[in-house]
Amino acid sequence: MKKRIIVLATGIILGATPLLATELTPEVKATAAAGRLALEIRKSLTPSIQKNGWGGSMDLCVKDVPATITSLEKSFGLTMRRTSLKVRNPANSPDGAEKAVLEKLDGMLKGGEPFSQEVTLFSRTESGKERTLRYYKPVMMQSTCVGCHGTPENIPADVKKILATRYPKDKGVGYKEGELRGIISITVKEKIPEGEVTK
Ligand code: HEC
Repeated sequence: MKKRIIVLATGIILGATPLLATELTPEVKATAAAGRLALEIRKSLTPSIQKNGWGGSMDLCVKDVPATITSLEKSFGLTMRRTSLKVRNPANSPDGAEKAVLEKLDGMLKGGEPFSQEVTLFSRTESGKERTLRYYKPVMMQSTCVGCHGTPENIPADVKKILATRYPKDKGVGYKEGELRGIISITVKEKIPEGEVTK
């Protein structure tokens, strides 16, 4: 059974139709949706930077990523966001649980406890007839991020100009490769089936 679920999830990550999404467990849905977002960003970012430059790739982060998130939310029946301890867009600010996870991961990394982007954290809560799964996946700084989130010498003048205009309160800069830029945060809610024993 476990094996079958893993096979289904892999199919979805690779882009097969998510028709079976409703049959998947919340954990598998969250993992598949996060994997798919990371894949979509990876696929489009490098070619866009090569073709349009850093400044010309801005819409990818401002429009395309949110559009992909909306479409994944619909396909998988969950909510998904990107957040960070130092946000560029104040609308991406972390809630209490997200802040705690970010601080924990940041502390681990600064304390020399390395982890990869594949690390995931789950938390489950129940309230009334609803069960909530929260899932968090680290988003690390890579070479494809430095032109927009890096240290000042890595950010081209045109990007600095766009950022100053669009994000006057921008805190999402000054990062080096390998640092924790933020997390993908996913919430999956499901009704607890009638008659299921709960504590
Ligand atoms: C072309 C510029 C550009 C590049 C390249 C870029 N970003 Fe961003 N990023 C942005 C912008 C603009 C936003 C704000 C989007 C919004 O308004 O929600 C953002 C937002 C984010 C956020 C959400 C939290 C926040 O600060 O608001 C995360 C996390 C993030 N980026 C990670 C990355 C990572 C990791 C990479 C590299 C793989 C990357 N970005 C590459 C421009 C960029």
